[in-house]
Amino acid sequence: MDKVRYGVIGLGMGRAHISGMREIMRAELTAVCDTNEERLADCLKSYPGVVGYTDYKALLERDDVDAVVVATPDRLHREMTVAAINAGKHVLCEKPMALTLEDCQMMIDASRNTDRKLMIGQICRFTPGFMRAKQLIDNGEIGDLFFVESEYAHDYSKIPGTFSNWRLDPLRHGFLGGGCHAVDLVRWIAGNPYEVAAFANKKMLVDWPTDDCTIAIMKFPNDVIGKVFVSIGCKRNYTMRSVFYGSKGTIIVDNTNPVMQVFKTESDCGFTVPMLYPISLNNHNTAGEIASLTDAILNDIPIEMDAVEGASTVKAALAAVESSKTGRIVKVDYDF
Ligand SMILES: NC(=O)c1ccc[n+]([C@@H]2O[C@H](COP(=O)([O-])OP(=O)(O)OC[C@H]3O[C@@H](n4cnc5c(N)ncnc54)[C@H](O)[C@@H]3O)[C@@H](O)[C@H]2O)c1
Repeated sequence: MDKVRYGVIGLGMGRAHISGMREIMRAELTAVCDTNEERLADCLKSYPGVVGYTDYKALLERDDVDAVVVATPDRLHREMTVAAINAGKHVLCEKPMALTLEDCQMMIDASRNTDRKLMIGQICRFTPGFMRAKQLIDNGEIGDLFFVESEYAHDYSKIPGTFSNWRLDPLRHGFLGGGCHAVDLVRWIAGNPYEVAAFANKKMLVDWPTDDCTIAIMKFPNDVIGKVFVSIGCKRNYTMRSVFYGSKGTIIVDNTNPVMQVFKTESDCGFTVPMLYPISLNNHNTAGEIASLTDAILNDIPIEMDAVEGASTVKAALAAVESSKTGRIVKVDYDF
C-alpha cells in the first residue's frame, strides 16, 4: 500500500479536509458523502472521478476507501466513527470527539478492538504558532511552566445559519463545542487538569440553549495552574490568544497574529528581551492532520491525537461545564 484512499462524510469542514488532502502526495480522495444534495453536487463538480453518496453506509461499503473523515455535526460522530471502524476503515473524526463521555467510550472501545487508527481532529496541534510554542516549551526555553492560559473567542452569531442549526444542541455547550480547542491546547502543553472550577453566564446569545461565556481555572500536574476563557457571543474577531508562563520566560501566541512573542530573562544581563517569531496563520492546517494520519496508516505508527486524547479533552471540558452549573470544584480522572 503506497497511498491512503479517503472518503469524506460531511462537506462543510469536510471541504477543508479535501483541500488539505490534495497537498499530500500519499493521500487520494475517492468518495464523498453529504445528505445535502446541493453541497454534494458542488463537491463532485470540483473533483471529477470521485463518487458521491447521500448515505454514509454506502460509502463505507467501498473497497477503495481505506480511511474516512467524519466531518458531520457532533451528535453523529459516535455512530459514524464506530460504523466506519467496524467496516474496516481508519478514521479522522472532527472535534469535539463527541458530546458525551458514553459516546467517547464507545469510540475508544471500537478502536481498541481493531488495528484501525482513530484520530481526533484537534487542529490546534497542527497550527504553526502553537506547534512552535510547544516545541520551545519542550526544549526548556522558558524554564519550568507555572501558568498557562488560552481562550476561544468566536462570535457564533456570525456563523452563517443554513448548516449550523445543529450547534444549538443543548448538549453542545460552547465550552465543549468550540472551547475544546483551547482546552485541548492547554492539555497538550501542561497535561491533564485534575481539578477544574468554572463560572459561566449568558448575556450575549440569550436564545442559545447553553451559557455563552465561561471562565475555567484548572490545576495541572507539576504544580502548574491555568485558565481557559470561552465566549461564543463576544463582539470581536475569532481568536485563540494563548500565553504560557515559565521560570525563564513567557510565550504569547495568537492564531490571528502573524508574530509570536517570546520574552526571556537573560540572567547574564538581567533584563527581559522580547523576541519576535514570524508564524504562518494557517489555522486550519488540515494538510498537516491528513499527512499525520496518512503516515501513521502507511507506517503503522501510533497516532498522537488518538481516541483517549480526544476523550480526555471532552472530559476536561465537561468538568468545567459541571462546575459552572454546580458551583463546585470538579476532580477529574482520565481512566477510559
Ligand atoms: N477543526 C475545526 O477548526 C472545525 C471548524 C468547524 C467545524 N468543525 C467541526 O466539523 C464538524 C462539522 O462542522 P461544519 O462547520 O462543517 O458544519 P456544517 O453544518 O457546515 O457541515 C456539516 C455537513 O454535514 C452534513 N450532514 C449532516 N448529517 C449528515 C448525515 N447523516 N450524513 C452525511 N452528511 C450529513 C450536512 O448536510 C452538512 O453539509 C463539527 O463536528 C464541527 O465541530 C471543526
